[in-house]
Amino acid sequence: MLIGLESSVKSLSEISNLCNLDFTTFKERVFPNNEVLVRLEKYDLIENRNVVLYFPLYPNPNVKLVMLFEALSVLNDYKCKNIILVTPYLSYSRQDKRFMDGEAISLKVILDIMGRWPITHLITFNVHNYNALSKYSSFKVIDIDLTKDLVKKILGKIEDRETILISPDIGRVPLVSKLANELNLPFGYGIKERDRVSGKVTIKDVVGLEKRYEQAVIIDDEISTGGTMKLIVKYLKDNEYVERIYVGATHLLLVNDADKSLFKLGVHAIFGSNTIENKYIILKIEPYVANIIKNILT
Ligand code: R5P
Repeated sequence: MLIGLESSVKSLSEISNLCNLDFTTFKERVFPNNEVLVRLEKYDLIENRNVVLYFPLYPNPNVKLVMLFEALSVLNDYKCKNIILVTPYLSYSRQDKRFMDGEAISLKVILDIMGRWPITHLITFNVHNYNALSKYSSFKVIDIDLTKDLVKKILGKIEDRETILISPDIGRVPLVSKLANELNLPFGYGIKERDRVSGKVTIKDVVGLEKRYEQAVIIDDEISTGGTMKLIVKYLKDNEYVERIYVGATHLLLVNDADKSLFKLGVHAIFGSNTIENKYIILKIEPYVANIIKNILT
């Protein structure tokens, strides 16, 4: 059986149709003091059944995490069998190590807590660091990579002109260069440098730009504040390397109107998936979730 928050009813209904599973929802309540509470009305349906819990953790990641822990606790109290947890965007996954002494490793903290309940699988999309995710999980993790399908969709939406595919930093070079190769596109990547004293990040170079291209697609796993994207867009614009710039990412958090600042810098269009609701969705995740669920349950 498929279960999620009432605010996810659209996705739940789509996934339920695609994999032929009944679905029901948790009611959500916010008290005047901002504490939250979830309630499963049809709690009597879950005893000894496998449950797929579909649970977006963004926006409002702190509140959503409390709701998630409450929901997992309810499923366990009413004796469900196993839980397959789907978190399209795994909040807190970027703090995957101790960057400074004394800090918490947030990813480890939330996975440790999840480990209290009978979760067998965690399904997520383009997680920041798969190795850290699997290292800290006591259950199987399935990370769905949307990059290829997203880039293909973007190419189908933009004009058929000479296009270079760009990774904003070195981290995703193996993935994006392989994809560029498969799609027969030229490939470039940014070299970021951080000033040790001021902490200021700059783009020193974009490797792979041998000439001026008609258009570029810059692809990343997420656009949060847009800081990374803005740097690379500005570098390309200032040096007149490309005429037209498109940006895409699986997760469009677009914090503090990052989209507006990107357009201001001259970005032509923004594209992404619906791991997070936003205005720029060209790829829907429900079919991917349904396929994985079908595979697990058969
Ligand atoms: C970095 O490792 C990631 O791939 C993204 O580039 C980064 O998380 C995006 O964050 P922001 O939009 O705040 O620069």
